[in-house]
Amino acid sequence: MTKTVRGILGYTTIIFIVSVSYFFYVYDAYPLVPERETFLSEIGEACGEIGLWALLFIYGRTILKLIMGKGALAKRILPDYSPPVTASIFERFLGLLNRTHIYVGITTIAIILIHIFLMGMPMDILFFPAVLALVIWQGLFGIFLSWRYSPAKLRKLSYLVHAQFITGITIGIFAFLGHLLIDD
Ligand code: HEM
Repeated sequence: MTKTVRGILGYTTIIFIVSVSYFFYVYDAYPLVPERETFLSEIGEACGEIGLWALLFIYGRTILKLIMGKGALAKRILPDYSPPVTASIFERFLGLLNRTHIYVGITTIAIILIHIFLMGMPMDILFFPAVLALVIWQGLFGIFLSWRYSPAKLRKLSYLVHAQFITGITIGIFAFLGHLLIDD
């Protein structure tokens, strides 16, 4: 197992354990947040679902990069791995994902913000404001990263904090456990 993958698994385990502990604390301390059934909240729900798929799509690119960056891992994951042909198809697909990432990213953030706006946010369950902050964080540093007038230093910092798979893992765990605390 590569150092990157080991690091990601280690981080995931720790954040998961801490989050589950907090989950049980909230589960005990607060009543379940009731779900509203209004026209707008139904639209909000649909936005949540689209947002989820959009995030999976975005981080699919990260996984593809991780796989492609590590020949050994790629060989184990893809059954009939034959480097030249497979690589070129994946590379072309990855190229498409890279070129469209900014648009997919902005759309995803907009959809998630609409979802939060339409559903309302239980501020006392910290999972929710944390996910909101992380989504805004991704957007802000994504803009700094792609804005052509960004000074080199800011761009470098932006890449460092924006292009992190662990941010996605954190968003996923927080959003999942947070939603378990909402009655439906
Ligand atoms: C929820 C929204 C977003 C997520 C989850 C996200 C995630 C990521 C990740 C994980 C990377 C690293 C590349 C990889 O390994 O996949 C990346 C790269 C990048 N992102 Fe985003 N991003 C989002 C929104 C945005 C937005 C709104 C912009 C620009 C306005 C943007 C611009 C960039 C750029 C320029 C790169 C570096 C070049 C590249 O890898 O394509 N991102 N993003």
